[in-house]
Amino acid sequence: MSAVGVVAASAGGVEKLREGLVQPLLDDGHQVAVILTPTAAAWLDHIGERQRLADLTGLPVRSEPRLPGESSPHPKIDVYVGAPMTANSTAKLALGIADNQALTVLCENVGTTPMIIFPRINAAHARQPAWSSHIDGLRSVGVELIYGDDVWPLVEPRSAGPRDLPWPAIFSALKRHL
Ligand SMILES: Cc1cc2nc3c(=O)[nH]c(=O)nc-3n(C[C@H](O)[C@H](O)[C@H](O)COP(=O)(O)O)c2cc1C
Repeated sequence: MSAVGVVAASAGGVEKLREGLVQPLLDDGHQVAVILTPTAAAWLDHIGERQRLADLTGLPVRSEPRLPGESSPHPKIDVYVGAPMTANSTAKLALGIADNQALTVLCENVGTTPMIIFPRINAAHARQPAWSSHIDGLRSVGVELIYGDDVWPLVEPRSAGPRDLPWPAIFSALKRHL
């Protein structure tokens, strides 16, 4: 059994985190600790998913830093997966900006703990001038990116209907580390 740190940001499809990723990992016998960005936490709180995730995993769903002197409520993690990640959180990870709990755990572990990142972005995000250097920087320290036309073709903002996130590709990448 491995301990998987599931980090999610406020991107479309995060509402399916439980059925798309957390439940399959638990079904495979792994321990799952969920950490959300503040906006993702607000979204999942609003639909009751945060409590469902906590009940299912048996661990608190983190989005706030602990107090000094408090111990971490999560176990030591063997592999991290950031899915879905926003353009914002992916960029912050590449730059080392740890201004929330989700980014703190990713920034502390990038390059040392196996890490898979799915940036759930659109074509406009990818045109941001620094974007390709963020992707290159993350790859250069061994982060595995679920990225490219085969898994997530980029479309213009508001031009595609609802799309399932590539949970099977994310899960397959994770299984290579479990
Ligand atoms: C309904 C909705 C859907 C969004 N979907 C995405 C998305 O798929 N990808 C993305 O990069 N940003 C998306 N955003 C924008 C992010 O939520 C926004 O940039 C936010 O500040 C990111 O914060 P976080 O990275 O801390 O979660 C969406 C916003 C809204 C309101």
